Amino acid sequence: MTEPAYLSAARAAYDTVAVDYAKLAPSGLETKPLDRAMLRVLAELVRGAGPVADLGCGPGHVTAHLHELGVPAFGIDLSEEMIAVARRDHPGLRFEVGSMTALDLPDGGLAGTVAWYSIIHTPPGEMPALFAEIHRVLAPGGHLLLAFQAGDEIRHLDHAYGHDISLDAYRLPPERVAETAEQSGFAVDARLVREPGTLEKTRQAFLLARKI
Ligand SMILES: C[S@@+](CC[C@H](N)C(=O)[O-])C[C@H]1O[C@@H](n2cnc3c(N)ncnc32)[C@H](O)[C@@H]1O
Repeated sequence: MTEPAYLSAARAAYDTVAVDYAKLAPSGLETKPLDRAMLRVLAELVRGAGPVADLGCGPGHVTAHLHELGVPAFGIDLSEEMIAVARRDHPGLRFEVGSMTALDLPDGGLAGTVAWYSIIHTPPGEMPALFAEIHRVLAPGGHLLLAFQAGDEIRHLDHAYGHDISLDAYRLPPERVAETAEQSGFAVDARLVREPGTLEKTRQAFLLARKI
């Protein structure tokens, strides 16, 4: 089956920038207490219940943060180069190449999933299918935590982290994402929208949902 163009574009772009992304885009989690709070809530909810997949893990800093919180987390990313960087920087953790749109995981095996700024390259029309796939791999009552830039626009990126790329990024209305999650079999437990921090241009949205 031919891969959708938006996945090929994301893979090519992140393969190109992976090493410099890891150098130039540190997670900043240490200066973002509200973001850490959402990850801590997820960690509390899943503790002792099973593994958590960090979907679109990039260089793996959220996977590592969850691990420090006592969560058996592993990372999956479309980009082989990102996975190489994640394995290099976090040699004790598990990282696999794969797309969150077609996960090589059994039904119902995960206590939680995180998609930290990784749904932002998925066209809104593809979001129901993406949420259906995440729903499939979660155990009943399993949790989903999303982070994304709030807004309502498509931005075309042709340069990032010192490289020429060609990639669309979507700023998404939190209410619309919540509605799509609800229509995909999730109950939304919490929504947080915070003001932009240093170097951020938009409000940042976090959504915590549960498989019903
Ligand atoms: C903006 S980066 C975020 C990386 C990391 N979560 C972070 O917070 O630094 C987006 C990541 O999502 C990955 N990605 C995008 N679409 C994906 C998909 N369908 N499946 C898996 N990974 C995907 C990209 O390869 C990239 O590493």
